[in-house]
Amino acid sequence: MEKSKQASSVYDKIAEPYAKEFSKPSKYIKEFLALLPKNAKILDVGCGVGVDAGFMSSKDFEIIGIDLSKKMLNIARQKFPQINFRKQDIRKIDFPPNSFDGILASCSLIHIPKKDVPDLLEKFHQILKKDGTIYLALQGGKSEEIFIDEPFKPDEKLFLNIISFDEIKNLLVKNGFSIVKKYEREPKSKGELNYTKLYVIAKK
Ligand SMILES: C[S@@+](CC[C@H](N)C(=O)[O-])C[C@H]1O[C@@H](n2cnc3c(N)ncnc32)[C@H](O)[C@@H]1O
Repeated sequence: MEKSKQASSVYDKIAEPYAKEFSKPSKYIKEFLALLPKNAKILDVGCGVGVDAGFMSSKDFEIIGIDLSKKMLNIARQKFPQINFRKQDIRKIDFPPNSFDGILASCSLIHIPKKDVPDLLEKFHQILKKDGTIYLALQGGKSEEIFIDEPFKPDEKLFLNIISFDEIKNLLVKNGFSIVKKYEREPKSKGELNYTKLYVIAKK
């Protein structure tokens, strides 16, 4: 199976334990939201079980969440029936230009093959409004593409795109973004993958 579809099908098998382990919003989400206008429209790319979407919706932002895993989306819809969640491949985003004030992609680009990331960032740039803001949470480190044993289901292999800061910075700049902030932290909880967590906020 193709790498990114394969990742989503793994999430179909681990949706429940994932939802139990990861119940807090992304670490620097408030820093991202602080850069957006009141009631901003935000696309949550690879929204999973909807934790970030739910948090942002509770702060009166207008959210659309997309994900390819039916089981992750089922949990998101149960928890946050007020949010518009859609089953869609990140690489086939088809919103009109200037649709969103913000795009959040928390730990989802990590499942997209490197060859597809430039087109995706170009698309993000297109669908963001002028001065729009993007938030990426990534697995950072020496650039590589690998399959790992999924921590919740070690008999399943999960595709990972490990991205160095220079790599994502260059791709963002090439696609018309300027970096606003970068944060890093080491993994803490048992369920977290054993890579440096890299967070990047950039502006159109
Ligand atoms: C590590 S989870 C992150 C979920 C959520 N953003 C969070 O931070 O908890 C990765 C999510 O990306 C989704 N995903 C992976 N590849 C995708 C693709 N090509 N299109 C849409 N979603 C994808 C998976 O189904 C999964 O829900």
